[in-house]
Amino acid sequence: MPKIASYNGKVDLIENIKISPMSRAFLFSDSVYEVISFYKNKFIDLETHLDRLNHSLNETKISCSIEDCKSEIEKLLNESNFEDGYIYYQVSRGVDSIRSHFFDENDCERFGFIEEFSFFNQLPLKVMLVEDIRWQRCDIKSTSLLGNVLQMNDAKSAGCKEIIMHKNDELTEGGASNIFFVKDKTIFTPKLSSNILPGITRHQVLKIIKDQKLDFEEGSYGIDDLKEASSIWLTSTTKGIVCVEEIVNLETKINSECQLFKICKNAFIKKYFS
Ligand code: PDD
Repeated sequence: MPKIASYNGKVDLIENIKISPMSRAFLFSDSVYEVISFYKNKFIDLETHLDRLNHSLNETKISCSIEDCKSEIEKLLNESNFEDGYIYYQVSRGVDSIRSHFFDENDCERFGFIEEFSFFNQLPLKVMLVEDIRWQRCDIKSTSLLGNVLQMNDAKSAGCKEIIMHKNDELTEGGASNIFFVKDKTIFTPKLSSNILPGITRHQVLKIIKDQKLDFEEGSYGIDDLKEASSIWLTSTTKGIVCVEEIVNLETKINSECQLFKICKNAFIKKYFS
């Protein structure tokens, strides 16, 4: 099926959508975004994604009606034939007449597209441990992803599909995912801060961990914690919950038979994908 997209509320084939090169998204990456999954034609946690989009809009002072975003996201799903997949949706500060770092009150610019996707082909990942070279507001889901892009592509040259980042030895998150690890039968995840994205899947997995009454802790952790971990997991809207099979530049004790991973993954699939 041809790919459809939405631009400022108008749905069309993606190749028919024309975007100005004076868009602040194009010139400054002055935009924020969401990736929202749907399964059997139903969104997974749409309202939580909209709350996070609202947070990103407020923190970047982009004025945009969240109701418009919601109806455009819903329209994209309604107008496609896809059963399972995700919607990418971004809001920029709009189109300028001249290029200027300074912004005035302008109309926001909204763009989204829908993609078919199967959530059940996730294999354990080979990852690389890298320095977190990003800005200091990673809680905002900004489209300015150059820090992630550069580090992920270095890792790709070493055969990796993801990275695990650390800032001065403190673990932050994956290139496009959040981190969990298991040590001594307890599940750990870095606590929320301006250095990590408050992942929706992270939130879903934490709810499952609490429902299952498993031991867990949110806090600050370092590379030594990873070395001692018996299992490491990454979570995101498109990956779901996936195991790390190897960190190519770090010796670890991880093994693929982690019982806690199986409990969480099975409960996650049962809750969101059945
Ligand atoms: N990224 N951290 C970063 C840096 C991310 O880019 C993402 C997701 C996550 C996980 O968030 P969530 O569980 O809400 O998807 C954490 C999306 C999928 C992307 O950029 O494609």
